[in-house]
Amino acid sequence: MNKVDVVMIGLGYIGLPTAALIAQGESYVHGVDINENVVNTVNEGKIHIVEPSLDEAVASAVEKGYLKADLKAVEADTYLIVVPTPFKGKNEPDISFVEAATRGIIPLLKKGDLYIIESTSPVGTTEKMMDLIYEERPELKDELHIAYCPERVLPGNVMHELVYNDRVIGGIDQKSTEKAISFYSQYVKGELHATNARTAEMCKLVENSSRDVQIAFANELSLICDKAGINVWELIELANKHPRVNILQPGCGVGGHCIAVDPYFIVSEYPMESKIIGTAREINNYKSFWCAEKIQNEKLKFELKHGRKPSVALMGLAFKPNIDDLRESPAKYITQKVLQNDHNGEYFIVEPNIEEHNVFKLTDYKEATEKADIIAFLVAHDEFKELEISSEKSILDFCGILK
Ligand SMILES: NC(=O)c1ccc[n+]([C@@H]2O[C@H](COP(=O)([O-])OP(=O)(O)OC[C@H]3O[C@@H](n4cnc5c(N)ncnc54)[C@H](O)[C@@H]3O)[C@@H](O)[C@H]2O)c1
Repeated sequence: MNKVDVVMIGLGYIGLPTAALIAQGESYVHGVDINENVVNTVNEGKIHIVEPSLDEAVASAVEKGYLKADLKAVEADTYLIVVPTPFKGKNEPDISFVEAATRGIIPLLKKGDLYIIESTSPVGTTEKMMDLIYEERPELKDELHIAYCPERVLPGNVMHELVYNDRVIGGIDQKSTEKAISFYSQYVKGELHATNARTAEMCKLVENSSRDVQIAFANELSLICDKAGINVWELIELANKHPRVNILQPGCGVGGHCIAVDPYFIVSEYPMESKIIGTAREINNYKSFWCAEKIQNEKLKFELKHGRKPSVALMGLAFKPNIDDLRESPAKYITQKVLQNDHNGEYFIVEPNIEEHNVFKLTDYKEATEKADIIAFLVAHDEFKELEISSEKSILDFCGILK
């Protein structure tokens, strides 16, 4: 058996592509996952997630013997932790997966090894894991290289971005940073920026919080403009003619597993200081609630005017345009809320990027807009922009389809 160079713990959306990329560089990678199905699928040279070009990369790495998956770690020179960091309780980050993954490799560590966390983590996680490691293995104190290196790839373009994105790399000391930079330089062509572990951890959280705050500004404008009787899309277009202004577009909230989640990692640790970040989360969540209320009000207005209940087309379920990902999706939240308030109403639920859904009965987007009395655009999918809609319909355009 060949000596293992890298142990990759967590073979999900980030860990598996990273493992495949390192293996393409002819390093021996031992991938570890607690999910037996994942381990078996990878060992068959197949993949359990949807990501372009990943299937060929995994098939080739497994066939050539550079990638193997297992339920348990083995001894290596480099260990990468790429496990989930979800919420627990009231928007508190849960680092128990990172801790469990770390505990699993502590007995295997030896002098000179490199340990890197890539999971999105609250500030101080790398130091906490360092303390945990040295508590169990005091003889290794200051003999390991320990670093944090966040991931910023875009799902759908991961194999390209893993190579070409710049990376921020922060060690717990100078020699750890240097060792981690030398590791990533083997397969990353983007620039590698050196810092310390706490700054690297915060950098990932701040990138997504920055997006969230900017979207919250646009969403807040949409609420103000609705009351002021101003077209928010026209307003933003005009304001952006200023050479130093660049306002984003409003929508029906913020979703996905990063932008809608990571700001809480800052707010939960620094509640007194993170006022704008916390408020942005509230505004973006409120915008979804507001959209659901707007649909309710439009239905009541219709009923008063026509003496019958309207049918409603809810256009889009995904968390952003032109994808099939519904995680933390505001459009899905709005649809659930509208349906909860009125079980007997007639609804046409539309999501052109998925064939079927286990809860919602889906309708073709053209059919839905022809049949419905009220059309609520929740996601700016490209298909919706081509639609020709009769002027008799009531339209609620929350995402600028008609702008
Ligand atoms: N997916 C993204 O687009 C993205 C982007 C940037 C950062 N991140 C961050 O990267 C980290 C991983 O995200 P992901 O999307 O790859 O998650 P994922 O859920 O797709 O994969 C994580 C894998 O880890 C496994 N796992 C859990 N505990 C384990 C343990 N103790 N030992 C071994 N395996 C274990 C799970 O079974 C799963 O297969 C998260 O912190 C996430 O926030 C994700």
